[in-house]
Amino acid sequence: MRLATPPGFASDVFLIAAPDAALLPEGPWTLLGDLQMRPAWRAAGLPEPEHALWVPVSEREKTLTTVIPWLEHWARIPLHREATVVAVGGGVLTDLAGLAAALFLRGVAWQAWPTTLLAMADAGLGGKTGADLDAGKNLVGAFHAPRRLVACTDFLATLPPRHLENGRWELVKTALVLGDLAWATELLEDGLVRPLWVERALAHKAGVVHRDPRESGERRLLNLGHTLGHALEAASGYRLLHGEAVGCGLLASCLLAETQGAKPFPREFIERMARRLAPLAAEVAPWEACLPLLHRDKKARAAQGSAGELPRTEIHCILPRPGEPAIQRLLPPEAWAEPHARLIQLLDPEAVRA
Ligand SMILES: NC(=O)c1ccc[n+]([C@@H]2O[C@H](COP(=O)([O-])OP(=O)(O)OC[C@H]3O[C@@H](n4cnc5c(N)ncnc54)[C@H](O)[C@@H]3O)[C@@H](O)[C@H]2O)c1
Repeated sequence: MRLATPPGFASDVFLIAAPDAALLPEGPWTLLGDLQMRPAWRAAGLPEPEHALWVPVSEREKTLTTVIPWLEHWARIPLHREATVVAVGGGVLTDLAGLAAALFLRGVAWQAWPTTLLAMADAGLGGKTGADLDAGKNLVGAFHAPRRLVACTDFLATLPPRHLENGRWELVKTALVLGDLAWATELLEDGLVRPLWVERALAHKAGVVHRDPRESGERRLLNLGHTLGHALEAASGYRLLHGEAVGCGLLASCLLAETQGAKPFPREFIERMARRLAPLAAEVAPWEACLPLLHRDKKARAAQGSAGELPRTEIHCILPRPGEPAIQRLLPPEAWAEPHARLIQLLDPEAVRA
C-alpha cells in the first residue's frame, strides 16, 4: 500500500507485508544492508547487485569511521551520480547509509528499507541522517531525505522482542504528541504490533516533516521524550536502547507537564507506562549523571539573564497533554529534577524505600 503523503513530499512511502522487488530503483542501484538481514533478503527472493555491501551494525560503531570504507567502495565500483543506494536495516544502518549517500559525490539518491519497528515508524522517514561523536549522539549529519521508504512488516518476524518493545515507544510518542490517550493506552496494553499503528505514525511524521523539514517549529514536537531520554541513554553507557530511553523520557515528560501546570494524566495511565518500563529501572541513571548531559543537549541554548546575571541554559521541552496536542516550552535543565525523581520512584518503589 502506498501511503498518502502531502503533495510534493520528498519521499514516496510504502507500507506492505511481503517485500516487493518492483519497488527497488528502476535505474542503476547498489545495496547497503545490515548483515543480519541478508538471510531474510535472500529468502524473499530479492535481487542483490554485484557490489552489494552487507555490514555489521552496532550503535557503538555509528561513527564517521564506519562510513569511510563504504564511500571508498562506491568510488571503486564506481557508483555514478544517477545511481541509488538502497539501505536495508534498522535505524543505525539507515542513519549511516543516508549520511553516506548525502556525502558521496555531494549527494546521491537513496531508498530506505527499514527492518526494525523503530526505523519503520520513525528513523527511516524525515531525512535526518547522522553519526555519533564521542561527545554525543547524532552530532554530525545532514538532511537528505530518501526518495522512497519501503516498510515491509514481514521483516519484523525475526526482530528480537526487546527491539519490538523498543520501537513501540516511538509509537507511544506519536500518540502523545497527538494527545490521543486512547491510542497511547492501546499501544501500552497490547503485546502485538499492528500495521495500522505504523501507518498512523508514518502519516503523522510525513505531515509534520513536510511542514517543517528543518525542525524550526512544529517538528520539534517529535522530540517529545527525547530530552531526558537522550541524557538517560548516554548516562546508561548506551545499555538503554534509544526507544527504551525515550519511553522513560515520555513518562518523565508527562510528569514534567504536570509540574508546569498542565492537566495531569490519569493515574492509571501513568501506572500503566511505569509497569511497562519497570524492567529498565536498574539502568535509569541518577539525577547527578543526567544534569551535565542536559546542559550539553543539542537543543539547549543560552538565555540571557537580567543585567549582571550569567546566561542561563534553556532547552526546548515538549509537554504532552491528555486529549490535546503536545506543546513546546523553553525550560532550564533543572526543571527535569522532580520528574526524574518521580520516574525513579514509579519504576522501582522498593529501591526508593530501601
Ligand atoms: N533519523 C531519525 O530521524 C531517527 C529517529 C529515531 C531514531 N534514530 C536512530 O535510530 C537508531 C536506532 O535504530 P534501531 O532501534 O532500529 O536499532 P539498530 O539499527 O541497531 O537495530 C537493532 C538491532 O536489530 C538488528 N536487526 C535489524 N533488523 C532486524 C530484523 N528484521 N531482524 C533481526 N534483527 C534485526 C540490528 O542488526 C541490530 O542488532 C539510533 O541510532 C537512533 O539515533 C534516528
